[in-house]
Amino acid sequence: MTKTEEYKRMAAEAAVEAVKPGMVVGLGTGSTANYAITRLAKLLKSGELTDIVGIPSSVPTNDLASSLGIPLSTFADHAKIDITIDGADEVDPDLNLIKGGGGALLQEKILAQASLRVVIIVDEGKLSDKLGTRFPLPVEVVPFGLHTEKRFLEGLGAKVTLRENVIAKPFRTDHRNLILDADFGPIEDVRALAEKLEHRAGVVEHGLFLGIATEVVVGGKNGITRLKKNG
Ligand code: 5RP
Repeated sequence: MTKTEEYKRMAAEAAVEAVKPGMVVGLGTGSTANYAITRLAKLLKSGELTDIVGIPSSVPTNDLASSLGIPLSTFADHAKIDITIDGADEVDPDLNLIKGGGGALLQEKILAQASLRVVIIVDEGKLSDKLGTRFPLPVEVVPFGLHTEKRFLEGLGAKVTLRENVIAKPFRTDHRNLILDADFGPIEDVRALAEKLEHRAGVVEHGLFLGIATEVVVGGKNGITRLKKNG
């Protein structure tokens, strides 16, 4: 296992300690979230944790969690999620995030906004002073608007790439939409950018998660660091 993978696993396992019997747990997407899901499954199997249900943020997460025997549920049965544990692509000092590297940003944001607590798990390489420095911003668009939304993002100053899957075909989200990866470089005003994107009809969702994380658990060479909202 590389150091980065080790840091991700450490962060995931530290975050899972907050999950208690009776909780509804939002299950994130991506390689770091997968460590948390694997850990939850292990605790359930050994009987150290009981009586939880997970709400998955994507088809791959649903498949992994159900293959590992985690009981799953939906918003039809639960109005609120007690805790969501998810990864991120970039984290700034205010705990704002870029997410969507795995293409699940829409359902991840729905889960996070319905959660009492949102715990983000990352390796220390994901921390940055300004979002956009390390990772392009994923923007989910409806296929009909692809070309005009691409030009719109370019007009805002981004270099824009249509995301492809492993066989070099356009990547489709769980909702059959497309992802434009918009490289703005370091973003000066994330709230202003988020607002512009939210007013654009063809944009289904964007990967700026602002004021959503309640805490970030960081795995790194010095062990675990917990960053909390408002200090
Ligand atoms: C998926 C996400 C992921 O949480 C994010 O891309 C981090 O992934 P990884 O843990 O594999 O680095 O937002 O849409």
